[in-house]
Amino acid sequence: MKIAPSILSADFANLERDIQLVEKLGADYIHVDVMDGQFVPNITFGPNVVSAIRPITKLPLDVHLMIVQPENYIEAFAKAGADIITVHQESTPHIHRAIQMIKAAGVKAGVVINPGTPLVAIENVLDLVDQVLIMTVNPGFGGQSFIESALDKIAQLKEWKETKGYTYDIEVDGGIIPETAERCKEAGANVFVAGSYIYDSESPKERVEALRTVLNR
Ligand code: DX5
Ligand code: ZN
Repeated sequence: MKIAPSILSADFANLERDIQLVEKLGADYIHVDVMDGQFVPNITFGPNVVSAIRPITKLPLDVHLMIVQPENYIEAFAKAGADIITVHQESTPHIHRAIQMIKAAGVKAGVVINPGTPLVAIENVLDLVDQVLIMTVNPGFGGQSFIESALDKIAQLKEWKETKGYTYDIEVDGGIIPETAERCKEAGANVFVAGSYIYDSESPKERVEALRTVLNR
């Protein structure tokens, strides 16, 4: 079970401090939400921010691209030091090619779908990817409520993993708190992104520990 704090909810004026804080608390990945103001109604970081944080942590950088024409930026994010690059099926007519490009860049490849997108949209790339991200909120902002219908998708992905021999991790992102993390874990998820729950707190330490407790059960 992996915990991936999302720096979307970190203090951008103190990114180094906030990244090293969760690293010390035993986080497994740093989740980096890249938004372009087109695919989602918010703007965040580009490759320069990824290369700036690359030397300050040993943790893998889990880069979630919420941008149109992701193919144009895959190489830049790979060069910047991303360890995993995850692309939205909805963001490109060529999801298969985008995944091939990520792998050709020597980076682990993830595919992600929005709450309104059915699993069938990514069925034909499941044999290629290292990670499948199921959005448990509509992407764009931290601090939204968990969307229940994601649980069925997680369970189906887990069943396909077992029956078809796929090797992807199943990641969830949005509205993750101990209660929803536990339900996602029971359905089959093994990577848990959490932004506001960890960072919008007086004690990120207690929050990471609370997540770890339910995930270790
Ligand atoms: C949403 C982002 C998430 C976000 C999650 O578009 O992909 O990674 O940071 O935030 P919380 O955990 O606050 O729902
Ligand atoms: Zn994300």
